[in-house]
Amino acid sequence: MITVRFIASSEGPEPAATEVRCKTGQSLMQAAMAANIAGIEADCGGLMTCATCHVYLREPHAARLSAPGEDELGMLEFTASPRQANSRLSCQIELTDALDGLVVDLPQRQH
Ligand code: FES
Repeated sequence: MITVRFIASSEGPEPAATEVRCKTGQSLMQAAMAANIAGIEADCGGLMTCATCHVYLREPHAARLSAPGEDELGMLEFTASPRQANSRLSCQIELTDALDGLVVDLPQRQH
């Protein structure tokens, strides 16, 4: 089990944070859905055809991931909120022990 912290997008000074204990081996999207994290829609269920599981990953954990593949890069062109250098599709992120403590910023919108 690892801990992942989800930070809600907000106009306020202190966005809501939710800390979730997650099983390794599942995707970040699956962990978020199981924890009812608002802000990740995952319309395609992880088939990488929707881009509604878009998230922003903070360092240092983001650098521990392999770079997104061509398909993920292609789908990141269709995110509803602006794509940033640390944008990823959460359905493509497999949770491992190396990601313990990961902080995930949720985009303002997914549609
Ligand atoms: Fe649809 Fe990730 S869940 S692209």
